[in-house]
Amino acid sequence: MKKYLFLILLAAATAHADPFPKGNAANGQKLIVKYDCESCHKGKMGGDGTAIYTRMERRVTSADILIDRMEQCSGAIGKQLTEQEKLDLAAHLNKTYYNFK
Ligand code: HEC
Repeated sequence: MKKYLFLILLAAATAHADPFPKGNAANGQKLIVKYDCESCHKGKMGGDGTAIYTRMERRVTSADILIDRMEQCSGAIGKQLTEQEKLDLAAHLNKTYYNFK
């Protein structure tokens, strides 16, 4: 019985371990630079643009909202992110700042 409980717990833990398994975080980091995401965030936050992801009143509270927000941001500069770019950016931001499971 104990053995099964362990397996169930293990399955539950791994099933939600990474919300963006197809995202390439290393490429996401490059896309942040390519699309100049932080220069705009810097304007809002002053100084360190990445502070926008860790601010107290941050808007992004789930993996889905993270994707939505990136679509709004890239739309503001007239860019359309591909599905893969969204996954890569999300994987990077999640790994570095948000840690959604
Ligand atoms: C036109 C300016 C602009 C650009 C370019 C921009 N952003 Fe943003 N971004 C904003 C603003 C303004 C906010 C804060 C919105 C708010 O407070 O509701 C924001 C917020 C965010 C957040 C949510 C932070 C939180 O509160 O948790 C994420 C994630 C994000 N941006 C990702 C990106 C990514 C990725 C890119 C590049 C592809 C990008 N942004 C480019 C203006 C921009």
